[in-house]
Amino acid sequence: MLTLATIASLRNELKAHRQAGRTIAFVPTMGNLHAGHIQLVDKAVQSADIVVASIFVNPLQFGKNEDLSSYPRTLQEDQRKLTDAGCHYLFAPNEDEVYPNGRDSQTRVEVPVLSDLYCGEARPGHFSGVTTVVCKLFNIVQPDIAVFGEKDYQQLRIVRKMVGDLCIATEIISVPVVRAESGLALSSRNGYLSATELQQAPALRQVIRQTAEQITSGRSDYSQLEHEATLALEASGFRRDYFRIVRRTDLAPADAEDKKLVILAAAWMGPSRLIDNQELDL
Ligand code: PAF
Repeated sequence: MLTLATIASLRNELKAHRQAGRTIAFVPTMGNLHAGHIQLVDKAVQSADIVVASIFVNPLQFGKNEDLSSYPRTLQEDQRKLTDAGCHYLFAPNEDEVYPNGRDSQTRVEVPVLSDLYCGEARPGHFSGVTTVVCKLFNIVQPDIAVFGEKDYQQLRIVRKMVGDLCIATEIISVPVVRAESGLALSSRNGYLSATELQQAPALRQVIRQTAEQITSGRSDYSQLEHEATLALEASGFRRDYFRIVRRTDLAPADAEDKKLVILAAAWMGPSRLIDNQELDL
């Protein structure tokens, strides 16, 4: 695997593959790769001739008091994992390469409405930072396919909307959440948890599942279910962020007539804000 830090060098490499008629799959990441990321790379390897991953801890998607400076950076280990997974190119630019004129004057890509809900409400500006960097990365790599994880459910929906609205010629493929044996969704932010917090954290998944079971067995008092789930999370050591039962079409609050639902949840365990979700067909 070749690691490249500049846009020009990556473009130069990919041009030859494109001219030879090879398809390109892209896996954008912020590094500190775990088994969930590797499944994205596996999917990319199955889906195209050439696989490009990126590692860029994007400052634009971190809030003022968030973990930008402490976000784990493990480049050498990540390079080894990507090589083993069959990735051909790693694009690992520094901030000046991506934002040469500074963060503040960067042209922004905004997906309205969807970006303001749930995680967007808790993290103002986060999704605009995500869509801006993903759009830039898509323009740099010009992939046929890009692979995203379903753990970041809202992010995936927003990226799909951006691609549709801006007529970006990249097909978005998603990969289901990868979990530890405990049920906890894999995340780089699990690394901030103490041993005790790691034992408590799977409760997020359990409460989502219990709520899903209540819905499939006939309950449709969703506000009350959300309230009960929030209390159950707090009883398991979480601090509340949001727990929402929404319809899949537009992620708006579900009502009793909706058949395609998704439960979206975020909650704080110690220093980590954890997210998880579950789709439900009634
Ligand atoms: O999901 C992530 O790791 C990031 O939000 C992404 C898509 C790499 C953009 O920085």
